[in-house]
Amino acid sequence: MKALILSGGKGTRLRPLTHTGAKQLVPVVNKPILWYGIEQIVAAGITDIGIIISPDTGDEIRQVTGDGERFGCAITYIPQRSPDGLAHAVKIAQPFLGDSPFLMYLGDNLIQDSLANFVEEFLKQSLDAMILLKQVPNPTAFGVAQLDGQGNVLRLVEKPKDPPSNFALVGVYLFESVIHEVIATLQPSARGELEITDAIQALVNTGKTVIAKQLFGWWLDTGKKDDLLEANQIILDATLTHAIDGDVDDATKISGRVQIGKRSNVINSTIRGPVVIGEDCHIENCFIGSYSSIADRVKLVDVEMDHSVVLEGSIIEELHQRIVDSLIGRRAKLVHSPQRPKASRFMIGDDCQIELV
Ligand code: TTP
Repeated sequence: MKALILSGGKGTRLRPLTHTGAKQLVPVVNKPILWYGIEQIVAAGITDIGIIISPDTGDEIRQVTGDGERFGCAITYIPQRSPDGLAHAVKIAQPFLGDSPFLMYLGDNLIQDSLANFVEEFLKQSLDAMILLKQVPNPTAFGVAQLDGQGNVLRLVEKPKDPPSNFALVGVYLFESVIHEVIATLQPSARGELEITDAIQALVNTGKTVIAKQLFGWWLDTGKKDDLLEANQIILDATLTHAIDGDVDDATKISGRVQIGKRSNVINSTIRGPVVIGEDCHIENCFIGSYSSIADRVKLVDVEMDHSVVLEGSIIEELHQRIVDSLIGRRAKLVHSPQRPKASRFMIGDDCQIELV
């Protein structure tokens, strides 16, 4: 069994972060989203993994993630010239996949459930495809499946106006090599992509065995800011262990589970976990509230913050208002200015979103 992780794409919904970097490398609890998927795939016993990359962000993904040694797997990078659809990604990966059955995983998805049982069941039952579904309150925003009483898939519809069920397709699929035959016959959809839902529908229509399994744990598609903050909250809750490796002075109060990385200094601050702070950070006179993740080399002075994610190398100083529900990109600078007249001065990149009080 092999695995194919899709880490190309455009990432338009997570702009401006994706103007300068891959969305799959945006960290959740200071670890790239993509790495959670790789770890779960390896935990399910699959160690031969192909990763689809785009021309814009592929080099960064390759550099950060490496050849797989750190995860105990072998990674083959597969460049996709343009994001022509999930089924297109499978098509160009065919030389890597060969005749092997494979697990396909969307590199910006996070799921709680272990993949091992699904892989085992897929192989044992000699299925042609298995899809994973999750009940959602707003099925119109997803690919949706219609099932018969035995869990067999009858129909798949992409973002239906009138959804046949509230079962959304999660970004994890298992396929036998027959999928390549149907993908070879696909035509681009109205949005110009080769759709994986069309490929699965073609399997169903030709009498192949396609079954659906329900996920009961959480599933997050981290493509948007609020999803990313939610992922951060859930993973902090589920996995964070208390570990103080940096220097914390006597005036600082720490409560709950907090991780502080090496060479970070925390001075005269209150930190209310779960909170993770990376390495080489400087935190002074701050309140850092629950569900915040601060990446490496961040400087925070006189800052109050709650439920926020701050990426590498950012500097925030003397803001006279609390930062909440925020995602702050790499090397951003938010500082108080003594300059007169008293006014806010901005240099804001494309597609930023700022809400002032
Ligand atoms: P999407 O989130 O559906 O697409 P996108 O990355 O272009 O994002 P946005 O809607 O914000 O513009 O893609 C799901 C995953 O699959 C994501 O990790 C990117 C990847 N992908 C590819 O690798 N190749 C493709 O052709 C497409 C469409 C997506």
